[in-house]
Amino acid sequence: MQRGELATISAIVVIATILLGIRTWEVLKPKEPDPGIPFYSNATPEVKQKAGKLIDNLQCKTCHNLWGRSLMQMTMNVPAPRLDGIGSLHSEEWFYKYFSSKNPQEILPSRLKKEFRMPSYAHLSDEDRHILAAYMSSLKVEKWYLADTKKAEYEVLTGKTYPSGKEQTPK
Ligand code: HEC
Repeated sequence: MQRGELATISAIVVIATILLGIRTWEVLKPKEPDPGIPFYSNATPEVKQKAGKLIDNLQCKTCHNLWGRSLMQMTMNVPAPRLDGIGSLHSEEWFYKYFSSKNPQEILPSRLKKEFRMPSYAHLSDEDRHILAAYMSSLKVEKWYLADTKKAEYEVLTGKTYPSGKEQTPK
């Protein structure tokens, strides 16, 4: 065997040993406990079922994320706030007023082009608006994730970076 060959083989062995060592460490190192998914709903099965149908029929997920990104949302790419955990940010009455408003932008100002803004759902029946409001307010976020949810909402709504040290949802 030539000297050069020996050096190459040694180098390969050294590199392989290092890679194996890293891999072993990755497998064996103590794991951070997985905090789990921070979003949940405490709605009754009836509200969940009725609201689910409305949300499908009215295609809320073309613009919004809810329980993961839908294919339509990814294609349209509207920068609408995610709805997961949104019930930790507003009350059921707030949602009902918001869905009943002829001009939702009077309640939440928009920075988006007209076609991407939150549409008015004032034309829905009173019952449907109540169901949507009940379901939205049931979409909670675990306390340890609340700050992140507020920050994400603020950044999507305003297009600005969340001011550090802010404790409350800026209005
Ligand atoms: C055309 C896109 C579009 C559709 C469809 C749409 N939304 Fe929205 N929605 C938005 C945008 C954008 C905002 C942020 C305010 C704005 O820019 O008008 C918003 C805001 C909201 C908010 C307030 C979020 C917050 O951060 O406080 C809720 C709740 C909401 N939408 C629920 C719904 C529900 C429920 C449906 C279906 C019935 C729906 N939206 C359908 C675009 C949409």
